[in-house]
Amino acid sequence: MLFLALLSLLPVLASAVNITTYADVPLAPEQLPPSAATKNGDAIVSAFANLSRNTKWNLVQNITLEGDIGEPEGMVRIGDDRIVVAWGDWVVPTKSYGKDEQGNSIVKEGTDRENGQGYAHLSIFDGMGKRIADTTLNNLGDAEYHIGGVDYDGEYIWTELSEYRPNSTATIIRVNPYTYEHEPIVHIDDHSGGVLHDTEKNTITALNWGSRNATKFSLDSQDLWRRPESKIPNPSLFADYQDCKWLGYPSQFDNEKSTALCAGVAAYSIKNTTIALGGLAIVDIDTMIPLMEVPITLYTPKGTSMTQNPVDVDVVDGKMRLYFAPDQHNGTIFVHETL
Ligand SMILES: *[C@@H]1O[C@H](CO)[C@@H](O)[C@H](O)[C@H]1NC(C)=O
Ligand SMILES: *[C@@H]1O[C@H](CO)[C@@H](O)[C@H](O)[C@H]1NC(C)=O
Ligand SMILES: *[C@@H]1O[C@H](CO)[C@@H](O)[C@H](O)[C@H]1NC(C)=O
Ligand SMILES: *[C@@H]1O[C@H](CO)[C@@H](O)[C@H](O)[C@H]1NC(C)=O
Ligand SMILES: *[C@@H]1O[C@H](CO)[C@@H](O)[C@H](O)[C@H]1NC(C)=O
Ligand SMILES: *[C@@H]1O[C@H](CO)[C@@H](O)[C@H](O)[C@H]1NC(C)=O
Ligand SMILES: *[C@@H]1O[C@H](CO)[C@@H](O)[C@H](O)[C@H]1NC(C)=O
Repeated sequence: MLFLALLSLLPVLASAVNITTYADVPLAPEQLPPSAATKNGDAIVSAFANLSRNTKWNLVQNITLEGDIGEPEGMVRIGDDRIVVAWGDWVVPTKSYGKDEQGNSIVKEGTDRENGQGYAHLSIFDGMGKRIADTTLNNLGDAEYHIGGVDYDGEYIWTELSEYRPNSTATIIRVNPYTYEHEPIVHIDDHSGGVLHDTEKNTITALNWGSRNATKFSLDSQDLWRRPESKIPNPSLFADYQDCKWLGYPSQFDNEKSTALCAGVAAYSIKNTTIALGGLAIVDIDTMIPLMEVPITLYTPKGTSMTQNPVDVDVVDGKMRLYFAPDQHNGTIFVHETL
């Protein structure tokens, strides 16, 4: 009996997944909920159409996340009682190559800093913020250790492991939400900070450092080193997108545009003061043209822009509901609704 019990543990021990569980509960609901695109892509776009610079946002809930969340990068809710947060733990900080005499960043082999070292984490919380499990997705010392934005397609969690510097490399990965086993899907010759899965065209779109370029790959090929289908610049300069959720082909755009909700920030130096201005957009991911956009001037009590990094979206009783988790280490999910 003991032998059999040990045998049944073997696959777990042999697995490359480094998972620490804090509660004896499933990591995802038995029936996986639909993606945002399937559940309410049209409703999210309708609610977005009503937003303006003057929208009153109501803070309806603070969810205190148990334990450390390092630097949060992305988030997705898998049903009402499971929240997955992607976060970085920086063990060896990146180090800038410095500036030249003209004050320009010194660039070596296309990039401007030493890569550092760290861990990419996905942590699973329940709906009240209790930590259920923590996973790390890389070994310490791996060049690609920076996790970023997260998408969810109703079956898998999509995210990426990148070097923590611009114009570097990344690998898009697909994660099983029950086991956190993850597979490399495509290698990118650039940093990736966010990824979207278009389940209709079977493509993924990766956003690079500051979401300045969007690189699209077909999932029809399984060649890890395949070439992209396209690489297009992002024409919007107002906020650098950090985390996005694919919304499908909403009827508002004649079911023709592959769209995502993206949140981000950019730092503006205005009258000698640096301000992080947040923004939300509905983006056509094939052109990166924002179809709708709105500034977000909400900050946490610690002063962090709400749209710095993780975002998730829902429509509840006809109202747009946004989930933000911008603060480092002691994390809180700030749930906002339109009035
Ligand atoms: C496994 O994960 C734990 C908790 O997240 C972490 O402290 C530890 O360093 C990881 N181990 C390895 C070998 O990566
Ligand atoms: C948008 O605003 C209009 C007018 O105030 C309202 O009738 C409609 O229900 C709103 N739609 C959504 C999706 O919030
Ligand atoms: C959330 O926390 C803020 C302060 O951090 C507090 O002002 C607010 O009342 C809280 N809101 C809810 C709904 O708990
Ligand atoms: C990225 O790095 C490569 C060399 O690794 C270089 O050829 C290229 O010009 C760099 N691109 C940018 C945008 O800096
Ligand atoms: C975006 O991609 C274009 C085309 O490959 C390249 O010329 C440009 O340097 C890239 N910009 C950034 C910021 O990566
Ligand atoms: C910004 O700071 C500089 C140096 O301290 C000062 O000369 C200048 O007047 C300031 N500008 C504004 C708009 O406050
Ligand atoms: C933040 O987290 C650290 C360690 O996880 C803990 O020691 C500290 O008390 C926390 N601070 C607050 C304000 O909760």
